[in-house]
Amino acid sequence: MLKYHVDKMLLERPLKNIPIQEIVINKKVRLFMKREDLIHPQISGNKYWKLFHNVNNYLDKNPKRPYIISFGGAFSNHISAVSAIGSIAGIPTLGIIRGEELKDRWRDNPTLLFSRRNGMNLKFVTREEYRHKDKLTEFLQYEFPEALIIPEGGTNKEAVAGIKMMLNNETKDFDYLCTAVGTGGTIAGISMFCEGNQKVIGFKVVDDTSLDNKIFELTSRKNFNLIDSSFGGYGKIKDENVTFINDFKEEFKIPLEPIYTGKMMQKIFELIDANYFPENSKILCFHTGGLQGIEGANLLLEKQNRNLII
Ligand SMILES: Cc1ncc(COP(=O)(O)O)c(C=O)c1O
Repeated sequence: MLKYHVDKMLLERPLKNIPIQEIVINKKVRLFMKREDLIHPQISGNKYWKLFHNVNNYLDKNPKRPYIISFGGAFSNHISAVSAIGSIAGIPTLGIIRGEELKDRWRDNPTLLFSRRNGMNLKFVTREEYRHKDKLTEFLQYEFPEALIIPEGGTNKEAVAGIKMMLNNETKDFDYLCTAVGTGGTIAGISMFCEGNQKVIGFKVVDDTSLDNKIFELTSRKNFNLIDSSFGGYGKIKDENVTFINDFKEEFKIPLEPIYTGKMMQKIFELIDANYFPENSKILCFHTGGLQGIEGANLLLEKQNRNLII
């Protein structure tokens, strides 16, 4: 019954319907975006695919009292998606949230409010405790032996296997496949399942020097390149990022968010201008969703009296 619920999310939105949209830029290369953000209103983009096998494989084991636990920051797209799965499939969920200070302020945070409204229980831990997620995971697995504990960002082998479904016959036609990189699961799946002649570029929004190795461990393939796209650090939003996102939406009618896809596209535009890609290259970027984060970002921008994301 529960499995039926999770499968149904896929059946309602068949893969074939995910459009690849050309971004007409009048340059010597052609740029496209695969709109994975459209796959589901609440479990959007890569989150959908990273959670798909994780949740279905777990439910296949028929836990008597299913329970899903995961980790994330205050604005986490992953936490938001896990809470939505919980609500859709009728599974209780627990989010371990970085930042004890949010304990009394979570109602002011749209991501946490949404997750809570989906029935997710929230446990706030200090940054120090959060850094030791492995220990917390061990403890939680002991406490809740039947629970599915999904790592931060959803990245694990099942997630990588799920990302395969973002690739199909149409994506084979591109020279470059581009994605934003946080924990590395999405690029790992793209690298693992793309064609041998395709180049994969990861736009790294976090300053994590171990990412190259982490991704390689997940794929055993070294057909990817990481390019720093952090624009001053993870979660930092510069005015130039806001301007880029607003201009992009106005011109191409595609919304981007400021933490992942906005920074990736801004960097890609810079690279195109610097002739990084050979002439006539066909470049495909994956829109990995995360648009739920715009509301929270705008609250912060508003407090700082800055331009908002439209
Ligand atoms: C919108 C969005 N794009 C890209 C990523 C990066 O994915 P990954 O953590 O698999 O590298 C994330 C994080 O999960 C995300 O929320």
